[in-house]
Amino acid sequence: MLVLGIESSCDETAAALVTGERQILAQAIASQEEAHAPYGGVVPEIAARAHAERLAPLIERVLADAGVSLGDCNAVAATAGPGLIGGVMVGLVTAKALAMASELPLLAVNHLEGHALSPRLADPALAFPYALLLVSGGHCQLLEVQGVGRYRRLATTIDDALGEAFDKTAKILGLGFPGGPAVERLAAEGDPRAVPLPRPLLGSAEPHFSFAGLKSAVLRAHGSGAHRPADIAASFQQAALDCLLDRTARALGGMGEVSALVVAGGVAANKRVRAALEGLASARALRFVAPPPILCTDNAAMIAWAGIERLDAGFAPDPLDIAARPRWPLDPAAEPVRGAGVKA
Ligand code: KG4
Ligand code: ZN
Repeated sequence: MLVLGIESSCDETAAALVTGERQILAQAIASQEEAHAPYGGVVPEIAARAHAERLAPLIERVLADAGVSLGDCNAVAATAGPGLIGGVMVGLVTAKALAMASELPLLAVNHLEGHALSPRLADPALAFPYALLLVSGGHCQLLEVQGVGRYRRLATTIDDALGEAFDKTAKILGLGFPGGPAVERLAAEGDPRAVPLPRPLLGSAEPHFSFAGLKSAVLRAHGSGAHRPADIAASFQQAALDCLLDRTARALGGMGEVSALVVAGGVAANKRVRAALEGLASARALRFVAPPPILCTDNAAMIAWAGIERLDAGFAPDPLDIAARPRWPLDPAAEPVRGAGVKA
């Protein structure tokens, strides 16, 4: 089994070739950081144009790197949502054209399912069901992953995603975009107790998240001129960690027995986040699984892998007229929460 994966839902253009034996034969990721940096965030129209320019050469490159042709693939998988619709359409239309021309099945993959199953690409021993903290620039959710295509969402954010809060904090502190890695680096030089910051929803009964108030508090702390940027970064990261741990512990209490605590999504690249969750897992006698950072941030290997998992689980390929979806919840039965899903 060999699947070509395509990802274009946000600001990473990516292509990858993955086998059913979990081998990533080749992968390429073109980040658009420079294109969006002047605006301090992703500009959808710029992103869509950049995907359109970069995707075809990236696909040619991974095929050449792996020494295979499209004819050697068993399917083409592409993110079909959720995400910035212009970018998603570029990737999905490209996948449709390749599938049609090469007479291959098309797999229209949910980007969130890509993140949710990426830990199983990295770790063959990871069995269903597992608890998943999915923390990225657009999403902040706690899920019970019961199987391929079977997700129970216990919590989501009622306002901003955590990655977004990292990005806004970076913007406030003048650290540039994307902010997560920059805030993490600066936080290492600061005192996490120096700046009093709120822990929104800490201790509340439902395991939901909220980060908008924390972001505003960072803005005020910086505006006061009373604190070193490194102390603000460290205190922000600590407040976010406290919230993550409290909320994750709460959600674990609402799940059945799980085989592991798993973290995925761009914020899972953060070393402090990984260490804190590892501590929580070991206190609960749970395995802790975090994919390598390259599989945490947006990539196409996770999309190809989700396609492979879907085929293995008996899901049919998708019709060539399937539409791109700006919104596509993993658990359609989850109750909508105020503010959640405002971001793609
Ligand atoms: O999964 P991802 O690449 O894209 C989305 O689907 O959103 O996640 C990107 C997010 C950005 O907000 C970025 O700032 C954050 O992940 N991120 C980090 C780190 N690396 C990336 N946040 C905190 N610490 C990091 N080291
Ligand atoms: Zn993502």
